[in-house]
Amino acid sequence: KKISIIGVPMDLGQNRRGVDMGPSAIRYAGLEKRLKSLDLEVIDTGDIEISRDHGQIKKETNLKNLNEVIVTNDNLNNKVSEVISEGSFPLVLGGDHSIAIGTLAGAAKHYDNLGVIWYDAHGDLNTADTSPSGNIHGMPLAVSLGLGHEDLVNIGGYAPKIKPENIVIIGARSLDKGERELIKEKGIKVYTMHEVDKLGMSTVIKETLDYLSKKTEGVHLSLDLDGLDPEDCPGVGTPVMGGLSYRESHLAMEMLSDSGLITSAEFVEVNPILDEKNKTAEAAVGLIASLFGEKLL
Ligand code: ARG
Ligand code: MN
Ligand code: MN
Ligand code: MN
Repeated sequence: KKISIIGVPMDLGQNRRGVDMGPSAIRYAGLEKRLKSLDLEVIDTGDIEISRDHGQIKKETNLKNLNEVIVTNDNLNNKVSEVISEGSFPLVLGGDHSIAIGTLAGAAKHYDNLGVIWYDAHGDLNTADTSPSGNIHGMPLAVSLGLGHEDLVNIGGYAPKIKPENIVIIGARSLDKGERELIKEKGIKVYTMHEVDKLGMSTVIKETLDYLSKKTEGVHLSLDLDGLDPEDCPGVGTPVMGGLSYRESHLAMEMLSDSGLITSAEFVEVNPILDEKNKTAEAAVGLIASLFGEKLL
C-alpha cells in the first residue's frame, strides 16, 4: 500500500492562530518513521499552498476569510485527486477542519458513492445562515452536502460531493440549533456520546461499517482531534469536555483498519500553541498508525 501525506497548514477557517502548525507538529511526532515501520510505502508530498490573499473580500457574507478558504481548498482538491489517480492513499494533515471541503472534493469524484465517517465533537453542519461564528471550519460537512455559500459548494466544479445517507458522525456532543434541524431533516446517522457510552465503541464501529459498506464504494475518515476528550487531546481550538478517549479511538482505528474499507483520511485541528508538549500530535500519530495496521502483537 502506498500512502501520500499532504500537509495543509491552514488556520483561516476559525479564530485561533496556531492550527496552521498542525502538520509540522504531526510530522515531528514521528509520523513518517512510524508508518514506514509498518512496511508501507510512504511519500510526504509536502504542504499545500495556503492562500493569504486578502484582496477581493466578498463583503456580502459573514464567512471569515472566504476567498482564502476557497483558493486553498481548490488547491487541496487538485492534490487529493491527483494522489488517488496515482493509486495512492491520501493522508491529509490539518489545519482546521475547513480543509475537509477540499479533501472531499478531491476524493468524492473518484467514487459513485463515497461514505464519510465524521469523528468529531461537532457536526460541522452549519451554513452561513445558521453559523453562530462565521467560522468555515464549522461548515465543511454541510458544504459537502451541497449546502452553503455557492463558491464553497462548487469547489472542484461539481456538487454535492456526498449524500446524507452515506455519512456517519461519531462523538458528537456540541451541535448548534440549525445543525440539529439539518440532521433530522436529512436523516443523518449520528452516534452522539450518549450512544457511544451506551453501546460501546466496538458496536458503534461495527454498525457504522455495516451501514456504510453496503452502499458505498469508498469511505473517507475525517477525524477532528477535538472528537477526543481534552484530557487526551488538549491542543485543539474548540475543546468540548466529555469526549472519546484515546483508548476507544485507538480501538476504532484498529477496527477501521481491519475492515479494509477506508480509502482516504484526514486528521485535523491539531493546534500546537494550545497543546501540552505535543501530546495531541502524538495522539494523532498513534491513531494514524493504528488506522494503517499497527498492532502490538
Ligand atoms: N459549531 C461551532 C461553529 O460553527 C463550532 C465548530 C467547530 N468545528 C471544528 N471543526 N472544530 O462555529
Ligand atoms: Mn470539532
Ligand atoms: Mn470538526
Ligand atoms: Mn477548532
